[in-house]
Amino acid sequence: MAHNTKASHTVTLTDNSNGKTIELPVLQGSIGPSVIDIRKLYADTGYFTYDPGFTSTGSCESTLTYIDGDVGILRHRGYAIDELAENADFLEVCHLLLYGELPNATDKKQFENDITMHTMVHEQMRNFYNGFRRDAHPMAILCGVVGAMSAFYHDSTDINDPNQRLISAYRLIAKMPTIAAMAYKYSIGQPFQYPQNDLPYAANFLSMMFAVPCQKYEVNPILAKAMDRILILHADHEQNASTSTVRLAGSSGANPFACIAAGIASLWGPAHGGANEAVLKMLNEIGDVKNIPAFVAKAKDKDDPFRLMGFGHRVYKNYDPRAKVMQETCHEVLKELNVQDPLLDVAQELERIAREDEYFIEKKLYPNVDFYSGIIFKAMGIPESMFTVLFAVARTVGWIAQWKEMIEDPSQKIGRPRQLFTGIIERPFVPVDKR
Ligand code: SDX
Repeated sequence: MAHNTKASHTVTLTDNSNGKTIELPVLQGSIGPSVIDIRKLYADTGYFTYDPGFTSTGSCESTLTYIDGDVGILRHRGYAIDELAENADFLEVCHLLLYGELPNATDKKQFENDITMHTMVHEQMRNFYNGFRRDAHPMAILCGVVGAMSAFYHDSTDINDPNQRLISAYRLIAKMPTIAAMAYKYSIGQPFQYPQNDLPYAANFLSMMFAVPCQKYEVNPILAKAMDRILILHADHEQNASTSTVRLAGSSGANPFACIAAGIASLWGPAHGGANEAVLKMLNEIGDVKNIPAFVAKAKDKDDPFRLMGFGHRVYKNYDPRAKVMQETCHEVLKELNVQDPLLDVAQELERIAREDEYFIEKKLYPNVDFYSGIIFKAMGIPESMFTVLFAVARTVGWIAQWKEMIEDPSQKIGRPRQLFTGIIERPFVPVDKR
């Protein structure tokens, strides 16, 4: 539960047009930048603030995830991401995000069992897939099927009932891998694979993705561990675009399934979660290390919209701590699969060149979480069109934990930003024969 903090001091705003001053309280969190509480600004001064892209705006209080972009720190409920990636499994991180604590042995077993018991989807949901073309982008399928979950699980859409909030969270965490794997199977014309209750979360996902009815499927434990770690790295990330979308959708009282579908839609963009798919497209387009300088030059050219995908971040002005773990995982997976992917050489040389280039140094552009993930997924046999789907599977726990925190925050109200209007002020209607 987000706790309301008290003012540590005030700042004074002076309106130089009339000499009026206003005192604004400054709220101090447990760590990170303090915030100027401007909730009374419009009532007291008639001014709105203006911050398109929210570069300097805090939208909420939260206790889930802390990022220090200057140093490259990411912590979930106080635990560093690299320690969680090294020592925890994804469901432990889900428990941590939902309940605020890593589970003890008893709670861990109970949570794993509860999630397992929700991994199947309503049998009629299978019919949705037949309505899509086989070449439909799996993110389009995910948006549709997840949004439709509220038609099947209406018994967990009362957002004011804490039990129903929790059941919908469990259903979403548990069913996303199933829905995602079904989208992949549908695209390749293979039969859907049911979840296996004796498999842990990540292994179950790989089984639903790659098992076929004709033979027994053995999950590679190295790949299952790598997938589990990748899910941890993508689980939550403060108030990013898709999480803010989920919070804004939820602030109107929309049901959690609809809110998560909105988050999926926002994540799809290439500037956000869609970047992992865009990185692989870019690496394929570069093709060979000898072409890197030309692409780096394009990325630096103000008149060229091209950007190095997988580079840069609104918050991280240092190395994304997740990218470091991703790069290690990349080497681990390619070694396990004995894959020599020339794109990894291109990616590493691209990172080396970019990080020595004045433009990237001055703008503090580093590889982000999306830079290496595509090479890993490709080595695992996952098609590019599924990369952002995997991001969505992992991020579902972050979205739903942030949604739950918002709903349970007593100060929560509907999100309704204002604007700076620069359009035509007023004019009389003109009949069509006079236009
Ligand atoms: C994710 O918010 C999150 O937490 C997101 C995420 C999460 O876990 O939820 O971390 C996941 O979305 C990671 C980011 C994935 N996106 C990409 O890799 C796409 C490529 N990156 C860029 O589009 C960009 O870096 C953003 C969108 C990620 C961040 O953009 P900002 O914060 O709005 O920064 P900006 O566009 O204002 O860039 C600052 C400057 C600009 O130059 P100037 O106008 O100041 O001269 O840096 C330049 C940009 O042109 N720049 C780049 C660049 N990214 C920024 N130049 C070349 N290549 C790039 N990748």
